[in-house]
Amino acid sequence: MKTANVLKRMFSFFIFLLFSFVTKNMAYPLSTNSRWIINQRGERTKLACANWPAHLQTAVPEGLSKQPVDAVAEKIVAMGFNCVRLTWPLDLATNLTLGTIVTVRDSFQSLGLNNDISGFETNNPSMIDLPLIQAYKSVVTTLGKYNVMVILDNHLTKPGWCCGNDDGNGFFGDTFFDPATWISGLTYMATVFINEGNVVGMSLRNELRGPKQNVDDWFKYMQQGAEAVHEANPYILVILSGFSYDTDLSFVQSRPVNLSFSGKLVFELHRYAFTNTEIWSSKNPNDACGEVLKMIDDGGGFILRDFPVFLSEFGIDSRGGNVNDNRYIGCILGWAAENDVDWSIWALTGSYYLREGEQGMIEYYGVLGSDGISVRNNSFLQRLSLIQSTLRGPDPQPELDNLIFHPLTGLCMLQSSLDPTKVNLGLCNVSQPWDYTTDNTLKLTDIALCLENTGPNAPVKLSETSCSTPSLSQWQTISASNMLLAAKSTNNSLCLDVDGDNNLVATNCKCVNGEDSSCDPMSQWFKIVKVNKKKLYNY
Ligand SMILES: *[C@@H]1O[C@H](CO)[C@@H](O)[C@H](O)[C@H]1NC(C)=O
Ligand SMILES: *[C@@H]1O[C@H](CO)[C@@H](O)[C@H](O)[C@H]1NC(C)=O
Ligand SMILES: *[C@@H]1O[C@H](CO)[C@@H](O)[C@H](O)[C@H]1NC(C)=O
Ligand SMILES: *[C@@H]1O[C@H](CO)[C@@H](O)[C@H](O)[C@H]1NC(C)=O
Ligand SMILES: *[C@@H]1O[C@H](CO)[C@@H](O)[C@H](O)[C@H]1NC(C)=O
Repeated sequence: MKTANVLKRMFSFFIFLLFSFVTKNMAYPLSTNSRWIINQRGERTKLACANWPAHLQTAVPEGLSKQPVDAVAEKIVAMGFNCVRLTWPLDLATNLTLGTIVTVRDSFQSLGLNNDISGFETNNPSMIDLPLIQAYKSVVTTLGKYNVMVILDNHLTKPGWCCGNDDGNGFFGDTFFDPATWISGLTYMATVFINEGNVVGMSLRNELRGPKQNVDDWFKYMQQGAEAVHEANPYILVILSGFSYDTDLSFVQSRPVNLSFSGKLVFELHRYAFTNTEIWSSKNPNDACGEVLKMIDDGGGFILRDFPVFLSEFGIDSRGGNVNDNRYIGCILGWAAENDVDWSIWALTGSYYLREGEQGMIEYYGVLGSDGISVRNNSFLQRLSLIQSTLRGPDPQPELDNLIFHPLTGLCMLQSSLDPTKVNLGLCNVSQPWDYTTDNTLKLTDIALCLENTGPNAPVKLSETSCSTPSLSQWQTISASNMLLAAKSTNNSLCLDVDGDNNLVATNCKCVNGEDSSCDPMSQWFKIVKVNKKKLYNY
């Protein structure tokens, strides 16, 4: 008896060693603690993902005729992402011919994509003759090798580009959206990936939409879907999408999702500039931002009081030529940083094998270029770097500090290393924390230097005197966007801005209100972002 106990204990110890070694880095599975996603050690695990489409006509993860899957996985990590939202069409799981007999080669052949066949033979020879579900799985496994987490996203039913209001894929009961088939597909995927530890969650269905949308069916089927996934695989997060292309979860405010399990529920929201084209193109950007932020909050942002909210699609044409995109992205980056939400950019991919009939269509929203490996726009990637970091959480939170984030550049305000009385923009991960006191004084934490306005178009400066004369160093957030920081000493007429050399200056506040839709205040947009004190200098 005694010996048996000792042996048992030794055995447990070995298991413990093995387990702690295997899970050293990632500590899966994940769960939730109020609005935070946490790992096995109770630490926050922030999802900073890129969407990797695999739901188009080929049903093959995009880009692999151009680059080896290992190279892509390595690049994902090098770009600062820790996760991929990997899309899949329901048919892949419910049509056994498609999933388990049709190979990558067959799929390309049937669509006449001969160039992709030869590219795939060169770059991913071990995958080209795999059945589609195995090819998909090998991408997941490779991502796991690089510690990249995966969210499996059921994007639609029939392989193809998504989405339209009347494409038959929009809501439970539509032509191609039979709830029972959908549940069997979810069960299949949850089961197939049960041993892939890096599969941390499933988006049950992307962007519900169309005339059939209704609250009762949403609760009925989403709850059934979530229970089915949990029964098949209790290790993964279940992620629920809302109405109208996942912009509207307002209905969960008055009616809770009723599940037999807890600690696994996450809600997802989408937002693009084209969600609100009218607003971005017709209003001054401060008003537009304020209006859209209210829509985001009413549409699901409020859920952050109780559950994680995953901003699972957002993005822009990263060539920088779309005015609406440029306004929207500063606004949404401010929101994402301030709320420190989990997120996934659309998209990873630089091009599609075949989209809407066009071979090799370029994805200008892709963080990767058309060669599938170069970064399309490094300055865009820089703008994501603050939100790629874990800023806060979980509860109970230690003391908080502030960073002053500039979404246009992705940089933060810091004391100049050349002239300690000056302030410029620099990398957020080396910027000093600021105090933003209840009387709106901006002061470097632990240093008696406050931010003083010295007049129009002049550099702002750090001074001790302004700390003892608060009226000189008070900066108020103004306008509907709440992203302008105006000097109280000027009666809010001068705002913080950045000159061509990234020095902080004060200039006339732009389009605080009014109808001027051509106004461009984005260089004046700042967001005071709360971060865990202990994390500073180190995220
Ligand atoms: C299943 O997939 C195969 C291969 O793509 C296709 O030919 C067949 O029509 C599909 N079956 C159904 C019921 O959609
Ligand atoms: C939640 O679901 C359980 C099991 O289906 C059911 O018994 C219970 O009445 C439900 N609760 C609410 C508030 O709907
Ligand atoms: C990257 O984005 C910036 C800012 O929008 C833009 O000015 C620049 O032209 C873009 N570069 C490329 C290569 O698209
Ligand atoms: C800060 O981030 C940059 C890239 O954005 C990285 O190269 C650098 O190592 C980071 N520094 C610290 C101190 O973490
Ligand atoms: C400050 O602004 C308010 C409101 O616009 C105005 O009534 C007041 O006269 C201004 N004061 C100064 C000193 O400019």
